[in-house]
Amino acid sequence: MTKYLIRGGKPLHGTIEISGAKNAAVAILPAALLVDGVCRIENIPQISDVTLILKILQELGANVRTINRTTVEIDCSRVSGHLVPDELARKIRASYYLIGALLGRFGSADVPMPGGCDFGTRPIDQHIKGFVAMGADVNVTNGYIRSKAKNGRMQGTSVYLDVVSVGATMNIMIAAALADGMTVIENAAREPHIVDLANFLNSMGANIMGAGTDVIKVRGVDRLAGGAYSIIPDQIEAGTYMTAVAAAGGEVRINNVIPKHLECISAKLIEMGVEVEEEDDAVIVRRSGALSRTNVKTMPYPGFPTDMQPQIGTVLCLAQGTSVLTEGVWDNRFRYIGELRRLGAQVQVDGKVAIIEGVTHFTGAPVKACDLRAGAAMVIAGLAARGTTEVSNIHYIERGYEDLVGKLTGVGADIRMIETPDEEAKPNVG
Ligand code: EPU
Repeated sequence: MTKYLIRGGKPLHGTIEISGAKNAAVAILPAALLVDGVCRIENIPQISDVTLILKILQELGANVRTINRTTVEIDCSRVSGHLVPDELARKIRASYYLIGALLGRFGSADVPMPGGCDFGTRPIDQHIKGFVAMGADVNVTNGYIRSKAKNGRMQGTSVYLDVVSVGATMNIMIAAALADGMTVIENAAREPHIVDLANFLNSMGANIMGAGTDVIKVRGVDRLAGGAYSIIPDQIEAGTYMTAVAAAGGEVRINNVIPKHLECISAKLIEMGVEVEEEDDAVIVRRSGALSRTNVKTMPYPGFPTDMQPQIGTVLCLAQGTSVLTEGVWDNRFRYIGELRRLGAQVQVDGKVAIIEGVTHFTGAPVKACDLRAGAAMVIAGLAARGTTEVSNIHYIERGYEDLVGKLTGVGADIRMIETPDEEAKPNVG
């Protein structure tokens, strides 16, 4: 089994480069299925979720050419099937974007039920509601979501989302790009990756307006042609390193970011006594003194991101006083707290609220990543802890963080990968 071994207690100093946004890449790559021609996609993060999606595209018949570490050229013009292989797609949540993409391209999609990190019920009823409103029949049989547009092409319509869903907003946008007529998505999510997907599709010839607001209008076009597009920097990866500096101390320049996307995270860190300086495409994060308590509630963008909840929770454990951390998006995203307690955290969880009593320090111990962001939180805790922390289940972390060990080592952290004998077989539920 591969683990991270972290000798903590060392402040971080230096520069970190942020990669392309995972949650933009995992939607943009499937959306390439809509494009009739070669799409050159740049700033792709090297993470296992991306590798899996590229493999799925290849299995569907796409020609994927690696240009360099962060750039691929994808030509889906020869794809003819709409049946997605079960084994790969089940491993990732984002495989649901293949439904919108295949429905948009062929009017038919057979896609396995998506997998993904387990933090409560993860329904996709809002995606399905959108596809049905656009004229598709959708049935779930034998673990597959089988969808078929009644007239062979998706029809533009109005869809009101009952919950603000990132995935449903993006999936309906993808399905609508080549639909007949105008689709209006109301109560749409506003995350930066939604704007990025719209910019990608528009740069290939789509006609999408309003991305970044809660009403998105997609006027269907007959064809998307090839082109080049560069994915935005990863808001959550940047936020994760910002919280790592807050927890471990030191001063780190974080390059290739959009500071506007980080404002919700910066604001909370500043409240806690961390210095955050913004430049055009970088932030400098500095922490030398004690951390003060604050309250954080996660919400859809521009609120504090749920994907930063475990990381900020870890920092709050080290802040003086009592903090209240409320999860406003997912039902069950506090499973990592049990692992943090092994390092000395004092936290009471009641449903979606955690009451955190700050401690002066963590003490290293073996801990597990329970999911992607929980895994990042374990690394942050290990960097701040006195002594040695071993983080297992790191395949979760590799789903979403490119070269985490290299980036942290570059700022002086003592973290490395080690191989230990297998304790138990771990399924990859990525
Ligand atoms: N929801 C429904 N019905 C739906 C869809 C969502 O009730 O059809 C509910 C969910 O249960 C949840 C809320 O709506 O309570 C928000 O879910 P959303 O659809 O926004 O989540 P998602 O699209 O499945 C993406 C990210 C997650 C991130 C959430 C929220 C991807 C692949 N995943 O998930 O990212 O937590 O948005 O921002 O983009 C991560 O990167 O670690 C991660 C889990």
